[in-house]
Amino acid sequence: MTKVLVAFGTRPEAIKLAPVIHRLAADPARFRTHVCVTAQHREMLDQVLSFFSIRPDRDLALMRPDQTLPALTAAALTAMAGVLAAERPDLVMVQGDTTTTMATALAAFYARIPIAHVEAGLRTGDRFAPFPEEVNRRVTSLVADWHFAPTARARDALLAEGVAPERIHVTGNTVVDALLAARARLATAGVPSPALAALGGDARPVVLVTAHRRESFGAGLRDVCLAVRDLVERNADLVAVFPVHLNPRVRAAVEEALGAVATRNPRLVLTEPVGYPDLVWLLDRCRLVLTDSGGIQEEAPTFRKPVLVMREVTERPEGVAAGVARVVGTDRARIVAETERLLRDPAAYAAMAAAENPYGDGRAAERIVDALARG
Ligand code: UD1
Repeated sequence: MTKVLVAFGTRPEAIKLAPVIHRLAADPARFRTHVCVTAQHREMLDQVLSFFSIRPDRDLALMRPDQTLPALTAAALTAMAGVLAAERPDLVMVQGDTTTTMATALAAFYARIPIAHVEAGLRTGDRFAPFPEEVNRRVTSLVADWHFAPTARARDALLAEGVAPERIHVTGNTVVDALLAARARLATAGVPSPALAALGGDARPVVLVTAHRRESFGAGLRDVCLAVRDLVERNADLVAVFPVHLNPRVRAAVEEALGAVATRNPRLVLTEPVGYPDLVWLLDRCRLVLTDSGGIQEEAPTFRKPVLVMREVTERPEGVAAGVARVVGTDRARIVAETERLLRDPAAYAAMAAAENPYGDGRAAERIVDALARG
């Protein structure tokens, strides 16, 4: 019997770990699963936990308004050390590259407990983009024992850093497992919610927009907002749906640049962060996606939706290589030009929408749990 402590703190980690938690729970003869959330995110995490029917065994409730990175890191490290001392798991599982991921991995390393890292090996090569995630994931790789790489490219990055090949398993990304499970349940999940229902009944093109990266705070985020404004003002039937992240710095920037425009133009829909099922519905409904999110870059290809990545670099070049994603940066004119090209040129659109999803086939959680079971 292996006691696995699964730890996470934000919405995307919860989405990507839910399929693994369910799979571990389905084999109680082999695994005892203890779920610990730091709740680095509160509202956004809780929505996902309830959708996937996951009840954490422990909740560290670490979110504070406008929390600084040092304060969050210190709180997560200290709290997690206490949890590990009390629970004494055989294995600690973390996902991705948030501050919760890095602090938990470090706490497990200090306690000499083996670590499994889901979605290992993503790299941009630039310590400051994304910030602080590139360093979070490198630190996690340094201390991990099991490296579950979503793609061959992620495996190669780990090999290049000296990780032993037998410790790396290429599994696909669990985000695809979660997405397929969610889509199958949309009809029974009250989706779309009333705020989005009006979009269901017509054929107007919808652009889904999300932006939250710290390295874009300031001029970058402002340019992104102005590009969205240009797009709805220049394209008479275009609808932009922009669920605004709860980080107060993101909210302030979006409100300043777009608040007044949204009040007078109903085709610019600024919403609270939508729940995961609504996001899945929007991905299905939209024509294309403008985002700086990592998870959405991996989800959109499953529905064959072109993604314009509003960052200077991406750790997910597989989508670019497959043809479904383009890195367009945060320059206002470039975002507008690339979006309008896709809206107006059917051949350009079809070339992107035809690409295969390079991120997974929906069986990543099964491969992860099988590898752990084999030991
Ligand atoms: C965090 C992760 C980032 C991940 C992103 C996904 C870090 C440093 N950042 O970024 O890697 O891509 O989540 O969404 O690990 N807040 C709320 N309610 C919520 C969530 C956030 O009020 O449900 C507010 C709080 O004031 C919080 C602030 O947002 O202090 C920032 O949250 P934080 O988790 O530090 O960073 P994110 O920008 O959300």
